[in-house]
Amino acid sequence: PSLDEIVNLHDFEAVAKAILPPKAWAYYSSASDDEITIRENRAAYQRIWFRPRVLRDVSVVNWSTTILGQRSSLPVYISATALGKLGHPDGELNLTRAAGKHGVIQMIPTLASCAFDEIVDAAVPGQVQFLQLYVNRDREITRKYVQHAEKRGVKGLFITVDAPQLGRREKDMRMKFVDESGVAKVQENQSGVKKDEGVARAISSFIDPSLSWKDIPWFKSITSMPIVLKGVATPEDALMAYDYGLAGIVLSNHGGRQLDTARSGVENLMEVVAALKTRGPWPNPKFEVFVDGGIRRASDVLKAIALGASAVGVGRAFMYSFCAYGQDGVEKAFEIFRDELEMNMRLLGACTIDDLTPEMVDANAIHSH
Ligand code: FNR
Repeated sequence: PSLDEIVNLHDFEAVAKAILPPKAWAYYSSASDDEITIRENRAAYQRIWFRPRVLRDVSVVNWSTTILGQRSSLPVYISATALGKLGHPDGELNLTRAAGKHGVIQMIPTLASCAFDEIVDAAVPGQVQFLQLYVNRDREITRKYVQHAEKRGVKGLFITVDAPQLGRREKDMRMKFVDESGVAKVQENQSGVKKDEGVARAISSFIDPSLSWKDIPWFKSITSMPIVLKGVATPEDALMAYDYGLAGIVLSNHGGRQLDTARSGVENLMEVVAALKTRGPWPNPKFEVFVDGGIRRASDVLKAIALGASAVGVGRAFMYSFCAYGQDGVEKAFEIFRDELEMNMRLLGACTIDDLTPEMVDANAIHSH
């Protein structure tokens, strides 16, 4: 279909499935084990209902916000997804260029298939980028990588903490690793690559499973970027992140690709916010909570924000949008979010992101599976 025929983000997924080589589709779409968590990521939003308010003069609606103190035209950022070139020859640059044009923040993956500098060079002046970090067993590689990113103007460091070992993504494992350009770049950047267990395993064998809370002061000592832990799932760990003086957390299960039957980020959100409220006034500008996983509609975005998230991350929907259409597809995905946000905020009675409150949703059924 032509881009004009795409009306929602689900359409991009269907197109990607139809046009991608089986190996790329397997890597992008797969989740771990029985793929229960990936389904739950969508299902959880369907257990949250709106309580819209009326007669609130919604003629002017504004969905822009700040994320870690940086302006963002959408309350949505592009979460890190590895190996963009499996989907399109321009890989991650599709995201960078579209994001630059639309004022959206991109999180650059450690396992990008374009070189890190190429992705930074593709940004327009003032464009905000974050870095997603997989921590190398060789801390010197990690230190150089983080400090280089900061020097290149990256504005936030998201350390992925839910992947001490990559989950078993069986669809992906059935496709043996075959060398190719995008993957070769990752091998160049990070050492210790294995070649016999599917794409995900092959590119991730350098990741350090010994990473622990004891390492957090070291990260704080090597960078002044705000540090966010990506892949937190409990109030216990949320409070630890807070007490370690970090800038925030992403409630995430890695798009269902790690521990299967882990709960969804949005299901964990309410208890995490309740726990953080015991530490002081909320919202707390010094500690932000983000959510990702399963977000395909502006209504999902608004539910997470109403329940206390400052913004949400989107992985697959943006990846799928560039597979057939490159940068134009990503721009269209932003426009779809924008149009849906405008409509849904009007119908909900919220003129700004700050107007979204817990009373606007009924999440009583969130824990009933
Ligand atoms: C990911 N994700 C991910 N996260 C991360 O921290 N480092 C990474 O390299 C990757 N790579 C990656 C590849 C692919 C193909 C997918 C689908 C996901 C997880 C990602 O950042 C995010 O947490 C989820 O994608 C969010 O769920 P949705 O939006 O895909 O449902």
